[in-house]
Parts: sequence; structure tokens; C-alpha cells
Amino acid sequence: MDTVVSGIRSTGKLHLGNYFGALKNFVKMQNENHCYFFIADYHSLTTHPTPENLHENVKQVLAEYLACGIDPEVATVFLQSDIPEIPELYLLLNMNSYIGELERTTSFKDKVRLQPDNVNAGLLTYPVLMATDIIIHKASKVPVGKDQEQNLEMTRKFARRFNNMYKVDYFPEPTAYNFGETLVKIPGLDGSGKMGKSEGNAVYLTDSPGVIRKKVMKAVTDSGPTKMNQDPSEPIKNLFTIMQVVSEAQTFDYFKEQYKNCSIRYGDLKKQLAEDIIKFTDPLRTRFEELYSDNDYLGRIVNMGAEKARQSASQTLKEVREIIGFKKF
Ligand code: TYM
Repeated sequence: MDTVVSGIRSTGKLHLGNYFGALKNFVKMQNENHCYFFIADYHSLTTHPTPENLHENVKQVLAEYLACGIDPEVATVFLQSDIPEIPELYLLLNMNSYIGELERTTSFKDKVRLQPDNVNAGLLTYPVLMATDIIIHKASKVPVGKDQEQNLEMTRKFARRFNNMYKVDYFPEPTAYNFGETLVKIPGLDGSGKMGKSEGNAVYLTDSPGVIRKKVMKAVTDSGPTKMNQDPSEPIKNLFTIMQVVSEAQTFDYFKEQYKNCSIRYGDLKKQLAEDIIKFTDPLRTRFEELYSDNDYLGRIVNMGAEKARQSASQTLKEVREIIGFKKF
């Protein structure tokens, strides 16, 4: 049995990228492994520092997790901020993390560009907190999307460094995981780049059918293929990538063939894609609405999860303190 950890920041509603990048794989793994799934609410403060909608966002994401099929009786579902051992291990790991390597991280450089007025220390040490989330449970597998690959490399580096510095074989080196396949990057509807919460290009899991149709029909395309077997442009590739994960294989093959022989009508492709997304998200949205209105249930889940996660985290902290050399008088 492997230990699996995954998480999502609580910065807003979840989209198709979050589902196909992380949640789907986690759900598939939960029965055969020791699984921890958490809401990275500390991480969300690196970009959303004010409390206006902190709690609402956490609640939204929690209900969405459960609606996607995470079973809280099987997996441990918890909030990062409920585990005081996390900031403690984060502090200890920070002592062995170097400014140079943190400054070179792609996600840090991106954030510096995106929020030049708030280049906070939390952003710089984001990968250290993420490594903490993972190694505190001594996880070996981390279901995430392609964008988290570098953070996982950093996690392995910090785990290895700890082992080398203290001459122990303590932390496993975890890997980003997708059932032996390459990690997924779900593109947005705007023609380029990945689907993201802040990019304005996302289909959210809780969008209504009307909103989904509108968004998909407005997706960027091109003027159509002009010769047989032409390579699609990026916006068209993106629509096919989304179709590949939400539609039946024969639907995908049908439109691919139509593209190849230049008979495709993008309007038809989009209509089909929108209906397939709706078919996929509809049951999820219904479950979400029930869960979201049940505060007592959500409260019970996170309290139970915090207790279980703390057991594993406090055992690690006890051992780490011993390894580093803290002793009681
Ligand atoms: P976050 O909140 O940005 O995204 C959550 C998960 O969704 C995946 N994802 C995508 N996958 C494919 N295509 C996309 N367009 C797409 N957009 C998002 C992300 O890869 C991620 O798996 N740093 C993490 C949160 C985190 C974490 C952790 C994850 C904190 N500690 C420990 C795993 C383990 C993040 O910002 O994810």
C-alpha cells in the first residue's frame, strides 16, 4: 500500500483542469492506498491574503471534492490550517532551503510577474510548504497535473537533502503520479495556455448548463482546415484535448476524422463538446448542491480528517525533532 497525498488551493471554484489533473486520479486511488486529500488554505494566502471569502472558498472546495467522489470514510480529508504540525515542519525545512533555488522556480517567477505589488515570502517558500504537505505523511505518490511537476522535483530535493544532512533514510522521494501515463495539462477555451482559475478561460464543475454552452460556443477557433491531414492550430488542438477527456472515444474519433478530411464544422464540434461537458458535470453539480448546504456534515468530515491527519503528522514531527537533535531536559 502506498501513501498518497494531494491537495488543491482554496482560491475559488474548481474547474475541469483540477478534476482531470488531480481529483480523478485521486478518486481512482483511494480504495487501494493510504490517501490524504486536503485543502491548501495556507497556500491560498500567498495570492489571496484577505479574509473576505476565505471560509466560503474552503467550503466550496470541500463540497466539490466530496461531490467528485472522494470518500471521507476511506480517504482522510482535511484542511491544511487544522494541522499545526505543518507550519512546524515547514519552518524546519525552510532552514535547509536556499533563496537561489526558490527564486529560480518557474511558479515564483510567474507570480512575481502577475502580482508585482505582493511578492511575499510565502510565495518564495511556496514549494517548501508544498513539500511539507507531502512528506509529513511520508507519501510516495502525488496525483497532480503537469503544472506541479517542478514543485514535485523540489519536494524530492528537500526530502533527499534532509536524508543526506542528517544521515538518515527517513523521507521517501515522492513522484507526481498519473497511472504510468504522462501528467495532464487541460487547456483553456481561449486558444492558448492551461485552464486556470484566474485566466478567465475555465469551465467550472459547478457551472450551469446555460453557462457551459455559452462558454464553449465562444471558445476560440480558426478559419478551418484547408488541406487533408493538416496539423490543427493550438486553439483547435485544445478543443480536441478537452473532448478527449469528457467525450466518448467514438465522438472524439468522429470529429478528428472530420477535421482530417476538412469537412468539420466547428459549430457542431462545440455543440457536442458542450453537451458532453454538461453530461459529465450535471450529476456532480447536483451532489455539490446537497453537500454545500449541509454545514454539519462538512464540519464532521473535516474534524474527523484533522484528527486522522494529525496522528500521522505528529508521529513524523516527533521523529524529525529527534533526528535533528532536539532533546528534552
Ligand atoms: P492548484 O490549486 O493550482 O490546482 C490543484 C490541482 O489541479 C491541477 N490543475 C490542472 N491539471 C491539469 N490541467 C490544468 N489546467 C490544471 N489546473 C490545475 C494541479 O496540477 C493540481 O494538481 N500547489 C498546488 C496545491 C498543493 C498541493 C500540495 C498539491 C499544495 N500542497 C501537496 C499536491 C500535494 C496547487 O497550487 O494546485
